[in-house]
Amino acid sequence: MKKQSVLFVCLGNICRSPAAEAIFLDLINKKGLKDYFIVDSAGTGSWHIGKKADTRMRIASHKRGLEILSKARQINSNDFEKFNYIVAMDDSNFENIIDLKSQISSSDFSSIKKIQNFRSIFQEIEVPDPYFGGDEGFEHVLDILEDSVSGFLDTIC
Ligand code: 4NP
Repeated sequence: MKKQSVLFVCLGNICRSPAAEAIFLDLINKKGLKDYFIVDSAGTGSWHIGKKADTRMRIASHKRGLEILSKARQINSNDFEKFNYIVAMDDSNFENIIDLKSQISSSDFSSIKKIQNFRSIFQEIEVPDPYFGGDEGFEHVLDILEDSVSGFLDTIC
């Protein structure tokens, strides 16, 4: 299998995309596919650069056996030349990624996707932003992502 690279993107890179990254890493570990992927996450915004993922998301993930180790960073022009797949958590992230690419990169290397297009169990067509809500929102994001990230992996390998 050819090595592939995946970048998960949300707004702040402290809630949804680090969770998607951790779920994807866990899946490829369990399937013995770790060596075939480069995986990362980023935000379209810059507010949280260098910060650990939101404590609420780290706790909710830890309860499911997922460790989120990433530090927040902002998507940049190199990403459009490095990652085979850039995967947005919601429609706004998707539009922002497309706009950004038109401004800073002429590369057509990356395929830009919406993660919820790979869902099978849940109806949500976007991953809801849990940042301003309660703990249950973080659980819901993880439930949704366990479904759609698994579907995404099945599609690309
Ligand atoms: P994320 O959630 O995009 O899933 O990381 C958010 C984190 C921070 C903010 C918004 C959404 N914020 O406004 O600071």
